[in-house]
Amino acid sequence: MFSFPSSNQPSTEFIHYQGQRPDFHAEFLRDVESGLSATPKNIPSRYFYDHTGSQLFEAICDLKDYYPTRTEFSILKELTPELVTRFHESVPIVELGAGSSTKTQVILSAFAARLGKVDYYPIDISPSILNSSGKRITRDIPEINYHGIAADYLEGLDLVRKLPGPKLYLWLGSSIGNFTPAASIRFLSQLRSALHPQDKLLIGLDMVKEESILLQAYNDSEGTTARFNLNLLDRINRELGGHFDLDRFRHRALYNREATRIEMYLVSTERQTVALEALNRRFTFEDGEPIHTENSQKYTPDLIQELLSQSGFHRESMWTDPRQWFSVVLASRS
Ligand code: AVJ
Repeated sequence: MFSFPSSNQPSTEFIHYQGQRPDFHAEFLRDVESGLSATPKNIPSRYFYDHTGSQLFEAICDLKDYYPTRTEFSILKELTPELVTRFHESVPIVELGAGSSTKTQVILSAFAARLGKVDYYPIDISPSILNSSGKRITRDIPEINYHGIAADYLEGLDLVRKLPGPKLYLWLGSSIGNFTPAASIRFLSQLRSALHPQDKLLIGLDMVKEESILLQAYNDSEGTTARFNLNLLDRINRELGGHFDLDRFRHRALYNREATRIEMYLVSTERQTVALEALNRRFTFEDGEPIHTENSQKYTPDLIQELLSQSGFHRESMWTDPRQWFSVVLASRS
């Protein structure tokens, strides 16, 4: 059950769901069934993040070829001293898709040093990553009250909107990029309607850049992104009784220039049928048939401006790196 934070006890208490949400399995099954019945076939990218998938994503973040994490981290280190001065008392920090919270630790430390106790509400779909990062963060920064929320964005937001404002919301890593621009505007508008007048949103977005750099980041030379993508089929095998042979699908990432986004697919290397025990049915794949598994939107300054203004946000500040590969924007209600 939801409870308000007790202020002076270090805590790794989880305010919502110790493990996976009870109806998660049914939802996963429903999305896989409809996605594999559709043309073209698709599986929503949020299902990447089981325990193994979250670990593979952490490994991606450390890859030489995957520039976003490193670039955003350098921007966050630069902007944090300035960000902290915009707050005069301790505010709760809510993070969407917090993952391991590695980059966030810079912000949390700075807030703790300047303002003392900080209530931190990381929302993440993976309970296992919240458990391990909760332990690390409360050990490293004793001023942090860690309130992990294992839930999807909307559910998590529904819980934290009951907290008194003002708050700082973080949505880092270009996680917004999994949404199409239209869906981003819908989601940001929903977030906007839940905001206290003085709430702020710090959001990280990956920028349009030379195509070869984008392609290399999603086709890394160590094959980690391929394993991350293929783990989705392994997860279906483990959790839904799937019979996918991972050797009969291959990872593909391409750049869609018109939509300015990376698209990831799992491509069937032959004509085959695959059984899914949880549904008691089989799905047919043609030779070369793709399953669309992810979009990763890349932004221009104009597109960022449009997203913000169309969803009722005002840009307070924007930071970027010397090559302008990544941007971090501080926004508030307009
Ligand atoms: C977590 C959605 C920001 O799109 O770059 C990394 C996920 N997929 N490599 C991204 C991802 C393949 C990542 N986001």
